[in-house]
Amino acid sequence: MNDQVRIVEVGPRDGLQNEKTPVSIAARIAFIEALVGAGLHTVEVGAFVSPKAIPQMVGSDQVLRGVNHHPDSEFHVLVPNEKGYDAARAAGATVIAVFASASEGFSRANINCSVAESIERFKPVVNRAKADGIKVRGYISCVLGCPYDGEVKPQAVVDVARTLWEFGCYEVSLGDTIGVGTPVKARQLLRAVAGTVPIAHLAMHFHDTYGQALANLYAGMEEGARVIDSAAGGLGGCPYAPGATGNVATEDVVYMLEGMGIATGVDMARLVAATNEISKLIGRPPVSRVAAAINAKRRVAN
Ligand code: HMG
Ligand code: MG
Repeated sequence: MNDQVRIVEVGPRDGLQNEKTPVSIAARIAFIEALVGAGLHTVEVGAFVSPKAIPQMVGSDQVLRGVNHHPDSEFHVLVPNEKGYDAARAAGATVIAVFASASEGFSRANINCSVAESIERFKPVVNRAKADGIKVRGYISCVLGCPYDGEVKPQAVVDVARTLWEFGCYEVSLGDTIGVGTPVKARQLLRAVAGTVPIAHLAMHFHDTYGQALANLYAGMEEGARVIDSAAGGLGGCPYAPGATGNVATEDVVYMLEGMGIATGVDMARLVAATNEISKLIGRPPVSRVAAAINAKRRVAN
């Protein structure tokens, strides 16, 4: 597996959307700048969603405008509908992400409509984005289990993936929203979806609730998947996925990849510094094992 992996850093969006402590727009911009400075060039920076649903993402327009000056970086934002699209476009978005669910229960809770209705809602968004030269990424949540409906069949994921791919999404990100997956199931899922969406266009977005995310990523990599969503410090969660914790930590992913001989271009010291800074602001230590180990080593050395 000695080849390239692309990391999509989702900390500023997935990481902060569930935090109780408000993080100012200036601090969100500084966090993103620090992540880019650490070598993470694909960063999801915000969401153009209802302020009632996710107050933490209010000001995503200012955040995007504040960071959009890096020519070699790509900044993503979530868009649930045309209203969100208008705002994202006005703020200069070049990549948007639409987000569907493989399960009805989560779809209802998260975006207040059925899976089929959400697809109908995305159609005009995707068509307008295509006409405007904006790239569209497609998320599918609950690919390995749903907090409301329980088990989710791979076929349900394949069906949504096919639709997103046929719409023209350049990449489909498979979200284990509640982090319940295990490696064999993750592998079977990747294999099933890769029959419809080429594996090079699939991303793995695994939350680490049950501590399985790295193992699941490795299993997915053995299937050929090479795009990993992760969040600095292991931040993250979704208010509509009760009990779910953060994304797999970027530090842990980078450590694993570098250990496998896969260069990430990420400066670990700068990444841990970015994590420490945001952790201070939200008032709790990073859950990343690697960040914790590096911080402990530093404390001993000083
Ligand atoms: P709704 O209530 O059905 O929408 O919400 P509506 O069209 O009836 O509008 C209700 C109000 O929201 C109106 O305002 C609209 O103007 C406003 P009011 O008249 O009451 O003052 N509104 C908006 N405001 C700003 N931006 C918009 C927008 N749309 C409507 N785009 C809706 C439907 C989809 C809008 C809502 O449920 C929502 O915003 N949900 C987003 C939830 C969310 O962001 N969840 C977290 C992200 S998904 C995730 O974390 C999973 C992922 O990480 C992958 C994984 O881990 O699985 C991606
Ligand atoms: Mg997520």
